[in-house]
Amino acid sequence: MIQIVPSILSADFARLGEEIQRVEQGGATMLHLDVMDGHFVPNLTIGPPVVKSIRKITKMTLDVHLMITDADKYAPVFIEAGADQVSVHQEACPHLDGTIRAIQAEGVPAGVVLNPATPVSALEDVLYLVDYVLIMSVNPGFGGQKLIPRCLDKVRQLARLRKELGLKFAIEIDGGVNLDNIGDIVRAGCDWLVSGASIFHSPDPAATVAKMRALAQEAMTIRV
Ligand code: DX5
Ligand code: ZN
Repeated sequence: MIQIVPSILSADFARLGEEIQRVEQGGATMLHLDVMDGHFVPNLTIGPPVVKSIRKITKMTLDVHLMITDADKYAPVFIEAGADQVSVHQEACPHLDGTIRAIQAEGVPAGVVLNPATPVSALEDVLYLVDYVLIMSVNPGFGGQKLIPRCLDKVRQLARLRKELGLKFAIEIDGGVNLDNIGDIVRAGCDWLVSGASIFHSPDPAATVAKMRALAQEAMTIRV
């Protein structure tokens, strides 16, 4: 099912509970949580205690995106804190097959993330294993950047591969998603669209989510 997935990175952290309620009112059923360690990406964000607190105030699916060098060590900690699904970067995981299996063994879906410079072919040997693939459409680390158009080719390529191989993984995109490019992204074959600044920096986040959902549904009807 097509999903608009608000990323709290651009929310007001002093009023996080209210911000989450707003996007839930707009119809979002998944929430994107960006975990950064200051090593893999040049920024620091949230840790397990924040995920634990969010878990208590929402039933939304908590989609945890790990931008950290030690995913093997911390993925179980975030699952324990309440993550419903966890994605790890291909570029950060030398034993990717094992990392994916370890997350799934904890009982949650596992995703693999590709940076803009990493080709889809890097996933050739794990595609049959993953529950979802997250295509970064900006270089990770910060919200509010502009989508790199070439990344949509990767979404198309993945969607084609999924069909050819008869696989069922979901395709997620993250970075620079806004009201103007949602149609193109959905038509490229994307299922889950993460969006941060365009939602939380808008005057009415609930209305923006609702508008994005409507645009995505409309584009679905003409998806090729
Ligand atoms: C960037 C993060 C994104 C970010 C997207 O490294 O992974 O999830 O919040 O934000 P926008 O939609 O503002 O590009
Ligand atoms: Zn993210």
